[in-house]
Amino acid sequence: MRKADLDNVIIPLNSTIGKAIDVINRNGVRGTFVCDDDRELLGIIMDSDIRRAVLKNFDLDASIKTIMKTSPFVISEDIPDDEKKRRFAESGKMLVPVVGDQGNVVDYISLREILTEYAPTGENTDQGVTPPQSVLIIGGAGYIGSVLSDKLIRMGYKVKVLDLLIYGKEPISYLTNGNFSFTRGDCRDQKTVESVLGGIDAVIHLAEIVGDPACQINESFTIDTNYAATQMIVESCVKRKIRRFIFASSCSVYGHSDEEVEEESGLNPVSLYARCKIESEKAIQSFDFNRFCPTIMRLATVHGKSFRQRFDLVVNLLVIKALAEKRIQIFGGEQWRPFISVQDVCYGFIKALQAPSKLVKNQIFNLGDSRENYQLKQIGDIIGEMIPQVKVETLSAQTDNRNYRVNFDKIRSILGFTVEHKLRDTVRDISTAYELEKRFRDYTESRFHNVLALKE
Ligand SMILES: NC(=O)c1ccc[n+]([C@@H]2O[C@H](COP(=O)([O-])OP(=O)(O)OC[C@H]3O[C@@H](n4cnc5c(N)ncnc54)[C@H](O)[C@@H]3O)[C@@H](O)[C@H]2O)c1
Repeated sequence: MRKADLDNVIIPLNSTIGKAIDVINRNGVRGTFVCDDDRELLGIIMDSDIRRAVLKNFDLDASIKTIMKTSPFVISEDIPDDEKKRRFAESGKMLVPVVGDQGNVVDYISLREILTEYAPTGENTDQGVTPPQSVLIIGGAGYIGSVLSDKLIRMGYKVKVLDLLIYGKEPISYLTNGNFSFTRGDCRDQKTVESVLGGIDAVIHLAEIVGDPACQINESFTIDTNYAATQMIVESCVKRKIRRFIFASSCSVYGHSDEEVEEESGLNPVSLYARCKIESEKAIQSFDFNRFCPTIMRLATVHGKSFRQRFDLVVNLLVIKALAEKRIQIFGGEQWRPFISVQDVCYGFIKALQAPSKLVKNQIFNLGDSRENYQLKQIGDIIGEMIPQVKVETLSAQTDNRNYRVNFDKIRSILGFTVEHKLRDTVRDISTAYELEKRFRDYTESRFHNVLALKE
């Protein structure tokens, strides 16, 4: 093993968080060792600790002592190189210091270095993941995941789902096909994640605490699930040489903008949910190894019927209220938002999965269709027009500050994606289910609403 250049990875104890960010951004090994003048190891800071601090609004001038981990895992310089590598691989760490007798740092091993040694180089010729290859869907029992699992199985893929079943098992209970397997588990747990990665060709990551109010219930739990787990899952995929990784981000990263936004536009998050999405995106994009092909999809707000129905999404909620109560209220109404059906979200994921990696590697795509941007008052108008005898009230108070119109040209031109199910189709679908099939009469129950279910 080559001897590492230690000056780039060591900082003194009197450094600020801002200084640690600078060093980590420059050194490429995703962490820094905190040492005294004799290079005796006092602690370690990884970029995940920094991102957590950012999410918790720490002051960048604060001391690194507030975030550094003391007593880190170390490897002794006295053991042979092969054994060092073995211990490093077993540790599951990104960066480990190699220390001498006096506890002073003499070298380090980083995941980047190990992977670069093993990863194949040269042209990327991966043509996409197609049936009967294996796809792991983390969060596959949720609103989007249950529909996606069903579609992929029907297409001939082998599908594995890892899910904590926060909203119950029913959404996937009918998936009995031999090509389907399920593990109940927490994606924050590295051992659980690693136990399901064997034989997998692509991972689609959907498991999160979803929605702004749901994320506020327990902010630490949200950061662990929506940010820290994502970073760990990507690391685990890279270590297992799984090439494809697709992440469900959200157009809510754009927050509030008077201009039409595209992938390169500035971000303006107005919630912890959106901030976690942004930090997860950055973490994913930093895994820029030769053949690893991560793709980030920024979804418009979703609507439509699913095996795990949600009625806490604005279109679904307005439609069911219009049907059940014959009266809906629109708050504000001027706000622009992009929408997409759950069916089309799945088609978008499938397009990315099947695309040659040179088109999607390390790319961000807004997932939606430029024609499906609506002002909330327009949604009220459509519902009023399609559901008889509904009273639509527009109130001046605005409860949701998100306002953004999104451009979806990139996904149309690169992946040839446009939507097939429009907002009007969802109004029709939910109306049919309610009126003709007598379904969703219990739409106020907690299982249809993330916040209510999480508070139980
Ligand atoms: N629905 C939307 O409008 C929308 C819009 C933009 C982005 N997204 C993103 O799409 C993804 C899926 O959203 P959804 O609407 O299907 O949400 P959902 O809440 O219906 O599904 C999330 C699933 O993840 C599981 N889960 C949560 N924490 C877990 C954990 N720690 N371990 C294992 N499983 C866990 C839950 O049990 C659930 O089945 C999320 O990343 C979400 O942020 C959704």
